[in-house]
Amino acid sequence: MFTRRVAVVGTGYVGLTTGACLASLGHQVVCADIDTAKVERLRRGVVDIVEPGLAELVGEQVSAGRLSFVVGAAAAVADHTDGLDAEIVFLCLPTPMGVGGVADLRAVEAVVEETRELLAAGTVVVNKSTVPVGTAGRTAELLDRADVAVVSNPEFLREGSAVHDFLNPDRIVVGCDTAEAAERVAALYARLGAPTVLTDAASAELMKYAANCFLAMKLSYVNAMAELCERVGADIGDVTDGIGYDRRIGQAFLSPGPGWGGSCLPKDTHALLQVADAADFEFRLLRATIDTNTRQRQRIVDKVRAAVTGRRTGSLARVRLGLLGLTFKAGTDDLRDSPALAIAALLRQAGADLVGYDPALVPDPANPDKVAPGIVDGEVEGVPLVSDPVEAAQGAEALVVLTEWPVFRTLDWATMAGVMKQPVVVDTRNLLDPATLRRAGLTGIGLGRREA
Ligand code: UDX
Repeated sequence: MFTRRVAVVGTGYVGLTTGACLASLGHQVVCADIDTAKVERLRRGVVDIVEPGLAELVGEQVSAGRLSFVVGAAAAVADHTDGLDAEIVFLCLPTPMGVGGVADLRAVEAVVEETRELLAAGTVVVNKSTVPVGTAGRTAELLDRADVAVVSNPEFLREGSAVHDFLNPDRIVVGCDTAEAAERVAALYARLGAPTVLTDAASAELMKYAANCFLAMKLSYVNAMAELCERVGADIGDVTDGIGYDRRIGQAFLSPGPGWGGSCLPKDTHALLQVADAADFEFRLLRATIDTNTRQRQRIVDKVRAAVTGRRTGSLARVRLGLLGLTFKAGTDDLRDSPALAIAALLRQAGADLVGYDPALVPDPANPDKVAPGIVDGEVEGVPLVSDPVEAAQGAEALVVLTEWPVFRTLDWATMAGVMKQPVVVDTRNLLDPATLRRAGLTGIGLGRREA
């Protein structure tokens, strides 16, 4: 097995996962970040990101001498642990959605500027961040180095299973206009034995958007279908079960919910719409995917309104509601673009008095100073947090399940019902067993369910 000297710039969840996993495949990896305190923590084995298996893998690879951390991209590319230069440099930098949905590439540009004269001849620069189509070409222009190739190698990692996804990929995508550079990057992953798509840089960049927008479209479709189920008396669980057996459709990504969110799907759908606009292509299907998602939030508010007041136009003013789950999905403490928070904001606008419980946002007694990003004075975007689900139920006229945390299934629902003002649960994830709720004296209202 051959080993490469790899630099990874950026230690967010993509960068750190990439660095630790490439080290576990036997490569010699240096990870760089501009945040000195974070680098110090990583050197001590402290991983801030909640990602199963990541902290263990980082510790293991650091001990094995294959993974190290430095401050700044320059140190990573030119001064590798053994004093040698990196052969392959991964850029795993944030590309937030800027004005008008255009990806903000300043972090990538700054690193290119910082390292362009330091890269050894023959280095391959790999972009792993989701960037607009054409960025590899622009990066090459900025680098202005005929002896350095720029490759696009998009990641397809889900938060909450990033390490698993990295080591068990459905496919590896490597795009470059020079075949030799693409093959060198693909060879890094050879041990994983995954199907590998070698293509040009623009196709690789577009592929990432094509995948995420397709997933978003699948979810908007399912959410719209759930609404139709309610109107015609069908059951979305049975419908998705049935269509999922069709191998062309597949069972995955078919759960209705409060709308899709997180750090990728909203950003990428808007960015692709921009790409289409710029290319003078009216991408109506994608626009409808986004609109359906925005509408889904209002639909949940209407559902809560009807459940609490018994009327479609009833008032939620001063109605106390307990929100169960605030993160964008289960298994993470990430609140970025969380549909739960978007719905909370609409409920607040309607006058409701909210309180929220989320298992990932409960203070850790072993580490009381550690506060998840997004929590300010015990509140998340104006929603006061409690550290016990029963407290969220106290005096509530309804509980609204917004994140599919499995622990909610086994809560003591009879106790919850006992402290509520009105025994109603709006389950936007179809997570809970309706019979269990009924036995506890609660009325459960799901999405597109027959009993709803
Ligand atoms: C996503 C892509 O899956 C991943 O390939 C890409 O690299 C980054 O974006 P992630 O944002 O971590 O990953 O979350 P994902 O698990 O895909 O969920 C996205 C959103 O869809 C969440 O809000 C989730 O709750 C929602 N969702 C997902 C559903 O509502 N129903 C489902 O069946 C699946």
